[in-house]
Amino acid sequence: MSKFPFPIPHGWFGLCFSHELKTEDVKKVRFCGRDLVVFRTESGEAAAMDNYCPHLGAPLNQGVVVGETLRCPFHHWRWATDGRCAEIPYAKRIPDRAVAETVPVQEINGMVMAWHHPDGREPYFDVQAVAGLETGQEEWGEVHYFEHDLPTCAQEISENDVDAAHFQFLHGMPAMNEAEATTDGPLKRTVQTFLTSDNFTQGEVEAATEYLTIRESDGPGSTSVWAKNVAGVTPGVTGEFLLYNVTTPVEDDRTILRWSILLTKSLEQDDMGKTLLFSFSEGVKDDIPIWRDKVYRENPVLCDGDGPIALHRKWFSQFYE
Ligand code: FES
Ligand SMILES: [Fe+2]
Repeated sequence: MSKFPFPIPHGWFGLCFSHELKTEDVKKVRFCGRDLVVFRTESGEAAAMDNYCPHLGAPLNQGVVVGETLRCPFHHWRWATDGRCAEIPYAKRIPDRAVAETVPVQEINGMVMAWHHPDGREPYFDVQAVAGLETGQEEWGEVHYFEHDLPTCAQEISENDVDAAHFQFLHGMPAMNEAEATTDGPLKRTVQTFLTSDNFTQGEVEAATEYLTIRESDGPGSTSVWAKNVAGVTPGVTGEFLLYNVTTPVEDDRTILRWSILLTKSLEQDDMGKTLLFSFSEGVKDDIPIWRDKVYRENPVLCDGDGPIALHRKWFSQFYE
């Protein structure tokens, strides 16, 4: 029995980082409660399909890439990226029903993403390109990758973003001003400012600077978080920080969260870069025991300083339809 009153949402979710899937790689990925095989063909196309061969059920992740197809280890039937059976080495005719069940794949922002819909509905929105990962790379430093295995569902992880008070009281960050959240179909945007003299850490605020964070979600599984106007330790140095986060529902109460973190070159060369990377990568450890043991309150008692939690839940509920 799931501890949540909703199923796994539909939308785009991560399969792996692009750099983890090299040409001719084949891997098994647990995705939304099922086993998928993910592979990259000789020409570089990434594809994903049900891990068990339509013929006699052999595990396709034990197969090999042959040209633009994946060859099953058991009887060498070959599967094209669109699921068609391209060859049966010992048959005169390929049966009409020889079609593997594929899932739509989109490769963007350094991620191989797959579409999940419980009723098999086709994708009706895309994941947008993020600056620093797809565009405007000149200003940005290298990408730092992190992966967290979290004992909760995608909605709870996403709710963390709009839960303004927990940043201060659980993570020890400065108090945030009220977030301005807007939604437009599958898109959600939250703009928030906070004052600090000491980036992202608690302390006396003198000579305060106003930091701006912008969070943009494309559906339930992909969110970019920008921190703008971030001051370096060196006087006069400022820059931007970007955290791109992509979730993968594994089961209904287990989710992999992948982060790509970038700093503008100005901050990467400043000690603030290391401080920010450390505080973000460690910060999620505060949330883990809470997620693991909390319950989901369908009708929570909320107060005026809580942030746009109700709006967030309403927005998220569209991905259960
Ligand atoms: S089980 Fe895959 S080819 Fe027979
Ligand atoms: Fe958190």
